[in-house]
Amino acid sequence: MTTTPKDGLSAYWMPYTANRNFKASPRMLVSAEGMYYRDDAGNAILDGTAGLWCVPLGHAQPKIVSAVQKSVATLDYAPSFQLGHPSAFELAERLKKYTGGRFSNVFYTGSGSEAVDTALKIALAYHRARGNATRTRLIGRERGYHGVGFGGMSVGGIGGNRKTFNSALLQGVDHLPHTHNLEKNAFTKGEPEYGTHLADELERLVALHDASNIAAVIVEPVAGSTGVLIPPKGYLKRLRELCTKHGILLIFDEVITGFGRLGTPFASDYFDVEPDIFTTAKGLTNGVVPMGAVFVKPEIHDAFMSGPDGIELFHGYTYSGHPLACAAGLASLDIFEQEGILEQAQSVAGYFQEAAHALRGLPHVIDIRTIGLIAGIELESRPGKVGARAYEAFTRAFDDGALIRVTGDIIALSPPLIINKQQIDELFGKLSAVLKNLA
Ligand SMILES: Cc1ncc(COP(=O)(O)O)c(C=O)c1O
Repeated sequence: MTTTPKDGLSAYWMPYTANRNFKASPRMLVSAEGMYYRDDAGNAILDGTAGLWCVPLGHAQPKIVSAVQKSVATLDYAPSFQLGHPSAFELAERLKKYTGGRFSNVFYTGSGSEAVDTALKIALAYHRARGNATRTRLIGRERGYHGVGFGGMSVGGIGGNRKTFNSALLQGVDHLPHTHNLEKNAFTKGEPEYGTHLADELERLVALHDASNIAAVIVEPVAGSTGVLIPPKGYLKRLRELCTKHGILLIFDEVITGFGRLGTPFASDYFDVEPDIFTTAKGLTNGVVPMGAVFVKPEIHDAFMSGPDGIELFHGYTYSGHPLACAAGLASLDIFEQEGILEQAQSVAGYFQEAAHALRGLPHVIDIRTIGLIAGIELESRPGKVGARAYEAFTRAFDDGALIRVTGDIIALSPPLIINKQQIDELFGKLSAVLKNLA
């Protein structure tokens, strides 16, 4: 495509973006407050996606703004290798408490991708520390998204993300089948009935490789980036049972489900299934300062702390435990705990899900699936043009003042948890008008 970028837009190579399209016809956000963005023409845009799933508390939350301002003026940066600063320790203690004390330790990263790679490295190092150095294989799942590092990409299951980098993907990785089945489960609210048995595919991989060679299984409790795939009833429990049976670590990637998306602190609380390790990012700081965190059970951490003196894990980032991120994380936790955010999310989840399912019957809609404050609306693809229809819905909705997210031909909605009923009506009203007029 030969389009000329508008002035001043050419140098920035935008991520996961059709750069040439965008630069010919930009969508520019200039400010945000509460549930709304504002674009450079002054239009208000209702945030139906919490940014990129990362702003559960709404934008420009005054307590977070002031905590970050105070932090930057006090301690702008502190190295985290062989040095510490108080808020990193305070946040870790608070996060531990937020898991009910079940996860004893927190390793900070700068993003979700880094959190995933960290979790995979911890899993490998854990087995090695316990004398099980042959446990090196990793198991992900088709249609999983675990960020864009080489580890996350390798255990991830999205073809488009992997194709170009095939030769550089990690060796020794297998994938469980995904659980998406429109024939059996279309238009389900909550966990679908069909597909629990797909967890048993893990037994086949164990039979093939032997459990003594397998380190970990990693899955998103609810897959987001690949278009809202909700686990079948009992699926995660079954996966847990099988991992325990075979001494395989279970890692949940809670980068989007952590911090209230399902109305509980974490998805593991919602599904009542406990992983050995889980990753978070995004909502951890309300998206204000980039940060990820990996949570581990006490027995994982203990395995590292009983070895010889010295650095226990050769891993870490310049920005692990960044003071500004810790300040944002502490302020976010205060708001979660003091302002009834989870209760608020629970109280509107039913209304939100009903509003989503009310789109059934509109042109091209072939599935609607919902859980917590997440909705996936799948559209029939145009012949030979996967993604084109939903992308058009995205641009039209934006022009009409609603931010939605699309992946392939699936619309994914995940608004800030502070959304109220009127805003839910506004979001679905706008989306419904777009769908009615979509070719
Ligand atoms: C489940 C999951 N894991 C990992 C990531 C990667 O996070 P980041 O973009 O912060 O690297 C994402 C991002 O959307 C995600 O949804």
